[in-house]
Amino acid sequence: MCGIFGFVGKEVSLNLLLEGLSRLEYRGYDSCGWAAVKTNIVFLKKEQGKIYQLKEKLKDNLEERYPLSILHTRWATHGRPNKINAHPHFDCKKEIILVHNGIIENYLSLKEELIKEKHNFLSDTDTEVIAHLLERFYQENLEEAVFKTAKKLKGTFALAIISKKEPQKLIGVRKGSPLIAGVSKKGYFLASDIPALLPFTRRVVYLKDEEVVILTKEKLEIFNFKKEKQKICIEKVKIKKESAEKKDYPHYMLKEIFEQPQVLEKTFSLYLKEGKVNFPQLNFKENYLKKLKKIYIAACGTAYHAGLVGKYFLEKHAQLTVEIDVSSEFRYRKLNLNKNDLILAISQSGETADTLAAVREAKNKRAKVLSICNCLGSSLIKESNGFIYTPCGPEIGVASTKAYTAQILSLYLLGIYLGLLKKVLKEDQARIILKELKKIPFYQKEILKEVDKIKKIAKKFSRLGCFLFLGRGISYPSSLEGALKLKEISYIPAEGYPAGEMKHGPIALIDEYRAVVCVVLKDSLYEKMIANLQEIKARKGKILGILNKEDKEAKFLCDEVIFITSLKNQDLSPLLVAPVLQLFAYFVAKNLGCEIDQPRNLAKSVTVE
Ligand code: M6R
Repeated sequence: MCGIFGFVGKEVSLNLLLEGLSRLEYRGYDSCGWAAVKTNIVFLKKEQGKIYQLKEKLKDNLEERYPLSILHTRWATHGRPNKINAHPHFDCKKEIILVHNGIIENYLSLKEELIKEKHNFLSDTDTEVIAHLLERFYQENLEEAVFKTAKKLKGTFALAIISKKEPQKLIGVRKGSPLIAGVSKKGYFLASDIPALLPFTRRVVYLKDEEVVILTKEKLEIFNFKKEKQKICIEKVKIKKESAEKKDYPHYMLKEIFEQPQVLEKTFSLYLKEGKVNFPQLNFKENYLKKLKKIYIAACGTAYHAGLVGKYFLEKHAQLTVEIDVSSEFRYRKLNLNKNDLILAISQSGETADTLAAVREAKNKRAKVLSICNCLGSSLIKESNGFIYTPCGPEIGVASTKAYTAQILSLYLLGIYLGLLKKVLKEDQARIILKELKKIPFYQKEILKEVDKIKKIAKKFSRLGCFLFLGRGISYPSSLEGALKLKEISYIPAEGYPAGEMKHGPIALIDEYRAVVCVVLKDSLYEKMIANLQEIKARKGKILGILNKEDKEAKFLCDEVIFITSLKNQDLSPLLVAPVLQLFAYFVAKNLGCEIDQPRNLAKSVTVE
C-alpha cells in the first residue's frame, strides 16, 4: 500500500510527475505529497486527500520543470491521514527528504533513541524515524547513510530518498515492498509499480530485496545491503500505456469487467496449444506432479475465492485433496509441510504481504511453491518455483474483477493438465471440458450485453440495507465473491454463505427489508436451492436469482432474475456468474454515489500485514 515515485535527470514538468503518481493512486489515496530539489532550494507540498487536490494546490507550478523529485500517495498505517503525516518526511534541517511504502516495526524504540539525541519529530508516522536516522548517519555521503540506516530498520520498506546536499542523486531502497527503476532518455525513475513508468519508459529494472539503487542523471548503480555491486538487468515491459487508462469508461472497474472475454481468450492463447494444455513456466518435473496427492492453496480476498473454485475443480477432475486457507491463517497455522508438498499461491499483484509470508513459511519447510499471478516482475513470481501468469494487463480498480476470472480459468486449465497427467481424467472428458471452456468468452459477452437490465435491477435493490448471497457447491465461492464485491464498493453489509448453512443462523436476518442473491443453477443441487428459495420467500426476503436460461421453477420464486447460459459442465459456471455479480455490485455502488475505483479504507495491494 502507498505508491512511491521519483525522478532524477533532465528536468521533467511537475504536471507529468503528478501524472505518473496518479497511476499509483490505486495503492492508497488518503493523502499525498511531492518534494523536489532545484538550484539548492527544497520544494515541498503535502495534502490530505487525493492527487487532484494536491494538483490544485500546485496549479501555479505545474509547468515548472524539476531535475530531482520524489512523490507519494498514502494509505495510512501509522498516524491519521492528515497533512502532517502525509509523505514526504524529512530530517530536522529539512535537508534529507524521503517517501516510504511499508512498515517500520521497530520505529518506537528508534524514535525514543532519536528523541534522546534531540531529533525533532513532527508526525505520528513510523516513516519519520528513517529521515532522522539518515540525518544521524550523514557524513557528506548519502549512500553511506542509507546503508547504515537500512541496517537499523526492521520491517518492510521501499524508499525514495533525496537530499539538498547532494542534489544530483536519487536513492531507492527495497526490502519487502516493491520498487522498480525506469530507464529513459530523460533520466531515471523510481516507482512502486509499472503503470507509473509507462508514460516515460518501458525499460525497467526490478530491484531485488535488500538492494539499494543509486541514480544520477548519468548512471544507475545497484548494491546489496552488504554494499556489493550488483549486475543490472534491464527488462522491456510489454504492457501498453493505454492498458492502464480508463478510456471512455466512467470507472476502471467497469472497463475491467468488460475486458474479461478478451482476457480469457489471451489466457487460452498462452496455455492451450492445439487442444493441449501446456504451462511453459510451470517448472516442475512431470514425475513429481504425477505423484502429487494433495495441494495447499493460500490467497487473500478475491484470489481466495478463485482458489475455492479451484479446490472444487481440482478435487473433482484431478482427484487431488485440496486444502485452502486465507494466507493470513496459513502463515500462522502449524502445517506439517515437507519437501514433497506443493503450495499454490494465488495473487493478482504478487505483492500481498500475507501471501508472500505464507509462501516464505512454506519454503522454510522446503515445500514447493507454484503461483498464479498477474504481475510478472512481482515478488511472488520471483519467489515461486514455477508460475502461471494471468495475462490481464494492469488491474487498477481496487475491486478485483478480470484477475478473478483469469485466476479461475488458470485453475481449470491446471486441473485438466494435472488430471490428464495423473491419468484420472480421460482424454475425451478433457476435450469436452475444453470445448465448452472455449465458448465461455462468447457467453460472457452475451451477459455483458445485459448491462442495462442489470443496472435497472441494481437500482431497485440498492435501497435495501443488507444482503445475503447464497449458493451451493461450485456456486458457493461465487456467492462469497458477490458479497465481497458489493460490500467493498457500496459499503452495504453483505454476507456470502453456502445455502445449506442458512438455517444455522443467517435466516434470522431475512425480512422484507433485506435482499438475498441466490445462484440457482440446473445442477445436482438445484432442488435443494429451490427449498432454500421457498424458505426465504416465506420470510418475505427480496430475492434476486442468477438462473440458467432454461429454468422453469426457481424464476417463479424470485423477485428479479438474471439469466446465464446453461453449461453442460456447471463447474465452469463461476466464469459466467462473476460478471453478473460484478455488474450488479458496480451499479448498486454507482446508484449510491460511492467512489467505485477507490473505496474508502482500501488499497489495491495490501503490502502490509
Ligand atoms: O493482489 P492480491 O490478489 O493478492 O490481492 C488480494 C486481495 O487483497 C484482493 O483480492 C482484495 O480482496 C480485492 N479488493 C477484492 O476485490
